[in-house]
Amino acid sequence: MGMIKPHMHTNNYPDLYSVTQKDYHKNVFKVPTLRNIALSAPYFHDASAKTLKEAITMMSNLNLGYTISEQKIKDLLAFLQTLTGETPVILN
Ligand code: HEM
Repeated sequence: MGMIKPHMHTNNYPDLYSVTQKDYHKNVFKVPTLRNIALSAPYFHDASAKTLKEAITMMSNLNLGYTISEQKIKDLLAFLQTLTGETPVILN
């Protein structure tokens, strides 16, 4: 998290570094599946993005170094919504 711009943590959730103690694992988090992403708010390991729009904006800013346009946010929202399907039984 924060590949291009640093991610300012407001809390102390453990990253991979807390497990391996390797410097290059600082700020490394598992990317969850994007399947059913429109149904699984809030987002990120610390639930810091309350909406999908916020998550998209943070991703493009922190991990791509890019200020995303409203139109592109809309397009990505539309795409991510196509990933909605039946909830896997294991999650019920
Ligand atoms: C515009 C492009 C991108 C979009 C729309 C996007 C979308 C998302 C979304 C919606 C999540 C939240 C998943 C969840 O909490 O269930 C997520 C998480 C994540 N993505 Fe992206 N992503 C993008 C680009 C990237 C890039 C370029 C990287 C890495 C170089 C990246 C790395 C991650 C990581 C590490 C997480 C987990 C972060 C955490 O839990 O704190 N993403 N992404």
